[in-house]
Amino acid sequence: MEKTTQMYEGKAKKVFATNDPDYCIVSYKDDATAFNGLKKGTILGKGAINNRVTNHLMRLLEKNGIPTHYVEELNDRETVVKRVKIVPLEVIVRNIAAGSLSKRLGLPEGVKMKRTVLEYCYKDDELGDPMVNEYHILAMEWATEEEIKLIADYSFRINRILSEYLREVNIELIDFKLEFGKTKEGKIVLADEISPDTCRFWDSTTHEKLDKDRFRRDLGHVEDAYQEILRRLLGE
Ligand code: TMP
Repeated sequence: MEKTTQMYEGKAKKVFATNDPDYCIVSYKDDATAFNGLKKGTILGKGAINNRVTNHLMRLLEKNGIPTHYVEELNDRETVVKRVKIVPLEVIVRNIAAGSLSKRLGLPEGVKMKRTVLEYCYKDDELGDPMVNEYHILAMEWATEEEIKLIADYSFRINRILSEYLREVNIELIDFKLEFGKTKEGKIVLADEISPDTCRFWDSTTHEKLDKDRFRRDLGHVEDAYQEILRRLLGE
């Protein structure tokens, strides 16, 4: 498979077309942004770590019956994925209060939610990714009722699979963001990435943050945290 033209450049990845119209190649960058691009920086080695961590977790999910866009890791930074049309939603799953949920509801970070919380945001940088509910999604025709049910069902299942898996390497999955896409056959599959950029990972014992919050909040040792996640998940 060969890269042809660049289709898209986002904040953390580039997407290229290939000689096969059913596949794309994603290329992960070291660039980091936060607060809708207001804060910019570089996290050395992040691209390669996020690529490898994402692929590792996508393979785990596939093995557990979740369809994903993952096809093949080409090298440290690049992966072949199925070409999909992204459903314009960020699906956020929360086990423990943190970040914007803590702010919105006045809950101290670290409080365990009595039930898993699912949120949707409309993917639109200009609007600042506003939170929406199922009524907005149906009214705006971003997904059908059947699709949104499937997306919610997959998201809860992904949460159980990842939480259990991460607990074994002493990581608590606090919350995370997913994106789904639709293949040309109309099948909903997990897309985008699952990495320290898009998840909150806390050490189960010390509660140390091992994710992008170290960059967002200037906590230092950002690269070390990404490296530590790679080490715990892939043993290096
Ligand atoms: P939040 O607490 O800031 O709403 O973030 C919830 C989760 O979603 C957290 O794990 C980080 C992730 N996330 C993204 O992946 N992309 C984003 O643009 C934002 C705001 C959060």
